[in-house]
Amino acid sequence: MRTLYIRIVVVTLLIMVTSSVVAFIGSNLYYQMILKPSNDEKNTEIARDVVELYNEASIGESSFFEKTAKLSYQFYVTDGKGAGTFYGEEFRDRTLSPEVIRSVLNGTTYHGMAEYPSTTFVTGFFSNELSNSIGVPIEIGGVPHAMFMRPNVKQQFNEIHILLSVLLLLTIVFSMLIVFFSTRYLVKPIRELTVATKNIAGGDYSIQLNENRKDEIGTLAKSFTTMSRQLMQVESMRQEFVSNVSHEIQTPLSSMKGYANLLRSPSLSKEDQDYYTKVIESESTRLSKLSKQLLTLASLDKDRGVTKSEPVDLTKMLQALIVQTRWLWEGKDLAVSLEADEVKYIGHEELLYQAFENLVTNSIKYTPAGGDINMSLYKEQKGITFIIEDTGIGIPPEHMEKIFDRFYKVDESRSHERDSSGLGLSIVKKIISLHHGNIHVKSLPNRGTTFTVTLP
Ligand SMILES: Nc1ncnc2c1ncn2[C@@H]1O[C@H](COP(=O)(O)OP(=O)(O)O)[C@@H](O)[C@H]1O
Ligand SMILES: [Mg+2]
Repeated sequence: MRTLYIRIVVVTLLIMVTSSVVAFIGSNLYYQMILKPSNDEKNTEIARDVVELYNEASIGESSFFEKTAKLSYQFYVTDGKGAGTFYGEEFRDRTLSPEVIRSVLNGTTYHGMAEYPSTTFVTGFFSNELSNSIGVPIEIGGVPHAMFMRPNVKQQFNEIHILLSVLLLLTIVFSMLIVFFSTRYLVKPIRELTVATKNIAGGDYSIQLNENRKDEIGTLAKSFTTMSRQLMQVESMRQEFVSNVSHEIQTPLSSMKGYANLLRSPSLSKEDQDYYTKVIESESTRLSKLSKQLLTLASLDKDRGVTKSEPVDLTKMLQALIVQTRWLWEGKDLAVSLEADEVKYIGHEELLYQAFENLVTNSIKYTPAGGDINMSLYKEQKGITFIIEDTGIGIPPEHMEKIFDRFYKVDESRSHERDSSGLGLSIVKKIISLHHGNIHVKSLPNRGTTFTVTLP
C-alpha cells in the first residue's frame, strides 16, 4: 500500500465488504430466530385452509391441486402406497423420509419449515426442497392422504428479487465510484503540500496553495503558507546580515592591509611609522569590538529570558559609567548630569551595564562639543524609568523606526570616523526586552534626542 490514495480506497472497500458480511449474518440470524417460526405457522394455516377448501369444493382432486398450484404453491400428495403426485413447480430435492409420510397419514402436522436445519448459510427460506414444507393429513375419496405444501418462492418473489439485486449492484457500483473520486479530492491537497515542502527544502519559498478549504487541511495549508513567508523573510534577513557583516569586516581589513604595506617602505619617517601603526591598532580594536558585539548578539538571540538575576544597584552603575566615560565627554567639553533615586533592580548586571553604556556613548558620540547630556533614574509604581537626554544632532524622523535594526546607521558615510557599527542599539533593545522592558526614542534633528527605558 504505497500511497494514501490506495490506502483510503482499500480501507473503505474493506469496510464495505466487512459490513456486507456482518449484515448478511445478521439478517440470517433474524430469519432463523424470528421469521422462520412465524413463516412456518403462517404456511401451516394456509395448508389447513387448502384442506378445508378441498373438502368444500366439488371438483376432482387433480384439477383442484393443479388450479391451487397456479396461485404459486407446490404440492405433493400421497397415500403412502404409490409414488404420489406432484403439482406446481418442480421441487429441486424430493427426498422425504417414509416416517414423515406415515406420521402425517396418522394425523400429525409436519413442520418441515421450522425444522429445516439452521446451519445452512444460505437462508432456508429460499430452499426449494420437499423436506422444507408443511405436511397435513387430507382425506381424498375416503382414503387418508398426506399433503405437503410450500409456497413457490421463486415465482412469488421473482420481480422483487430482480429489483433488490439491481438495487444492491447499483449501490456497490456507485459507492465504489464515489470512493474513488472523493478520495482523490481528499488526497490532492496533501500531494500539493508535499510538493510545496520539497520546493521549500530546495530554497523556493514562493509556494501557492489552495487555502479556501474550511477543514483541517485548509488550516494546514494556511499555516504552511505563513510558515513559508516567514522562512522567506528569515532567509532574506540572514543574507542581508551576512553581507552586512562581511562589509563591516572588509573595510578595516583592507585599511590594515594598506597601512601594513606602507610600513614596509624603507624610507619611512618615525612619525609616519607611528601613525600607520596606530591606525592598524585602532582598526584591529574596531574589528575586535565588532566581533564582540556579534558574539553578544548571537548569545542574546539564543536566550528567551534573562539567564542570571541578581540585585543590581542601578544608581551606582550609572555613576561608575559616567566616571569611566569621563575622558570621552570631557574631551568634547560636554556637561553630563545624573539625577537619580536610590534604585535597586533584579536583573543581569553585565547586560544592563552594556545597555546603559551603549546609550551613554551614543549620546556622547552624537552630541557636538559644548552640549549637554542629562540622565535621570527614578522608581515608579509600574517600574523603573531611565531617561537620557542630549542636545546632539538628533535623528531625522524617517530614520527613527530603523535605528534599532542591526547594522542600521543614519549617516552611513560618516560611520567610519564615528567608529560606528550600527549594532549598539539592536543589542540595547534585545537586552531590555530580555528584561521584559521597553525602550522609546524621541528626537528632533539638530536639537537633541531622548531615549526612555522602562523596566518592570
Ligand atoms: N543619541 C543619539 N543622537 C543621535 N543619533 C543617534 C543617537 N543614538 C543613536 N543614534 C543613531 O542611531 C544609529 C544606530 O545606533 P547604534 O545602533 O548605537 O549604532 P552606532 O552607535 O554604532 O552607530 C546611529 O548610527 C545614529 O545614527
Ligand atoms: Mg552605538
